[in-house]
Amino acid sequence: MWIIANWKMQGSVQALRTFCQGLTPALATLPQVRVVLCVPFPYVLLAQDLLRGTGVFVGAQDVSPLDNGAHTGDVSAAMLQDCGVSHVIVGHSERRRDHGEGCSLIHQKALVARSKGLIPIVCVGDAEGQGQGVLTRQVRRGLGMVAGESGIPGAMIAYEPLWAIGTGRAADQTTIAKMHQHILKTAPGYPVLYGGSVSADNVASIITTPGVSGVLVGGASCRLETFLPLLTAADTALTPN
Ligand code: PGA
Repeated sequence: MWIIANWKMQGSVQALRTFCQGLTPALATLPQVRVVLCVPFPYVLLAQDLLRGTGVFVGAQDVSPLDNGAHTGDVSAAMLQDCGVSHVIVGHSERRRDHGEGCSLIHQKALVARSKGLIPIVCVGDAEGQGQGVLTRQVRRGLGMVAGESGIPGAMIAYEPLWAIGTGRAADQTTIAKMHQHILKTAPGYPVLYGGSVSADNVASIITTPGVSGVLVGGASCRLETFLPLLTAADTALTPN
């Protein structure tokens, strides 16, 4: 089961060191979870150094849709790959909101990431009361499943209802099951993660919901005090009796 930690624009060199020192020994006793730590760009190489050989993957939170060249401030997929990054989040709702990112840009980012061997985690999400149509559009356009395009094999999808992100109010199991089923019908075969206020208290019920291949965790992933109990609860829920 995938547990993707999304630190967003948080953390520091010292916080990363402390976090990795505590995470690594704990993981040895948690065989059911596969962790990806998505840190801000400046911390990617340090995370890679600290986590080498531990089985924890290092991820990024964005990538340029362009290959290389005169694009000040952008970071290319090739650079991420060069730094040992395996996964990259694209189209997070905070980037859609803060930077006006739309589906075609998100698709380009996912495509370029995949072409460099990275696993793009394409985020989709509905606002309260918006319904499933918006998810269909975001999934089809983000993955490139329109006008004869064939999608992005190897990509992951993260379903993050906008009202659940950072609010402490996760979607309930029925909603998650329904939305994941809808996404899986739209994009068969892609792993679908859930994100939005995942915590140690609700992770067991979320990851045992049909159609859920993992979780994308924001707030609760930034500190060991909240992340380790979450990993333990996930591992316990998935361990066969
Ligand atoms: P949250 O964030 O866990 O803090 O709700 C999730 C996300 O935005 O990826």
